[in-house]
Amino acid sequence: MDHHETDIMEPEPTSQSLNLAPASCEDYRLLAARTLPRPLFDYVDGGAYQEYSLAENIKAFERCRLSQRVMRDVSEIKTDIQLFNEPLSMPLIMAPVGLAGMLAQRGEVQAAQAANRLDIPFCLSTVSICPLEEVATASAGNIWFQLYMMRDRAIVKELMARAQAAGCHTLVFTVDLAVVGARYRDLRNGLAGGLGPMAKARLVFDYLQHSTWLINVALKGRPLTFGNLSSFVPSANSLGDFKQWVDSQFDASCSWHDIEWLRDQWPGTLLVKGIMEPDDAKAAIRAGADGIIVSNHGGRQLDGVAASLSKLAAIRHALGPKAVILMDGGVRNGQDMIKAKASGADAVLAGRAWAYALAAKGSQGIETLFERWRAELKTSMALTGVTNFSDITPDVLDV
Ligand code: FNR
Repeated sequence: MDHHETDIMEPEPTSQSLNLAPASCEDYRLLAARTLPRPLFDYVDGGAYQEYSLAENIKAFERCRLSQRVMRDVSEIKTDIQLFNEPLSMPLIMAPVGLAGMLAQRGEVQAAQAANRLDIPFCLSTVSICPLEEVATASAGNIWFQLYMMRDRAIVKELMARAQAAGCHTLVFTVDLAVVGARYRDLRNGLAGGLGPMAKARLVFDYLQHSTWLINVALKGRPLTFGNLSSFVPSANSLGDFKQWVDSQFDASCSWHDIEWLRDQWPGTLLVKGIMEPDDAKAAIRAGADGIIVSNHGGRQLDGVAASLSKLAAIRHALGPKAVILMDGGVRNGQDMIKAKASGADAVLAGRAWAYALAAKGSQGIETLFERWRAELKTSMALTGVTNFSDITPDVLDV
């Protein structure tokens, strides 16, 4: 990484109060940029190629306008919902984020504990640092497991059995990673290798400057392996070895028949994540999914695809009022839950938001940020004249 690139990528401070207390998601993002070594911040913050879709996810929420309604009795506001017979304090799920254990000490454990205290589900990634069993033992909460299809189906079966044994009722099967979109920031930072000696020296210097991270994560956060997969790759010595193995295991031949196969194997709730078109949504339900997650992987895969928010109305129309439709991509505040619901989703997932808060302030950071979101959701519901989240309709949108 040379200085020129570093300057371009430096996040712009937007708040003068950062040294006092972070309030918004953007504040946590800026704190994360200070706490994390540059390659790790960029891994979380970045998207595929030109990052058009990453930006578009956020802009779609920004463009969405709400109708201000007055003189309704809004003294009692209910943000809680039931999702697959499980109560959630608000319509929010923590999205699967790979390698979260590189962002804070035993990061996935801290995140799951925050989710439990918030009464919302936490979805553990296949490629987490902490293994399923460690996370489930450390948190009594509602833990979902996200699965990627591996070429070796015996591994897939074993992962599902472990998830079930760990008490997960919900399996999230991610379908938008048939091949991996390149992220230019990761290439610049040498995550795919290829750095010269000077660049490597700068990289080491960058890591050394982040002493809190070095102590909490690099030293106290060990083992830093892909916890769910380490038993399948005993020869792997570094995260790079793991990544190579995982990349070689991604199955680009995956098709709807594989969802039917998964459906036969998995007795719990099955969600298909990464749907952006009404026809694919219908195919997922036909293949046996209990619901879908409208998602473009947070703009990390197909750059140039539309914002997930903009796809909700057509997908809701195609699946009908009873289908369970979740969405993610660009959710950055409490009000976004209203916009997503009014556009056709039952609930949202957020990925980067909790990753920033975890890196900045650990488990407590996630809890504080998402409590603020719940408060904002309540306030915005009151000011749009809705008292029960489940009653939100497209009427709250000012179109
Ligand atoms: C992800 N996402 C993801 N999805 C998945 O199914 N399995 C995974 O392992 C990961 N890993 C991952 C790492 C990082 C750093 C990010 C930012 C995202 C995608 C994630 O679940 C979700 O779809 C997006 O993060 C949603 O967009 P926002 O909320 O980040 O805007």
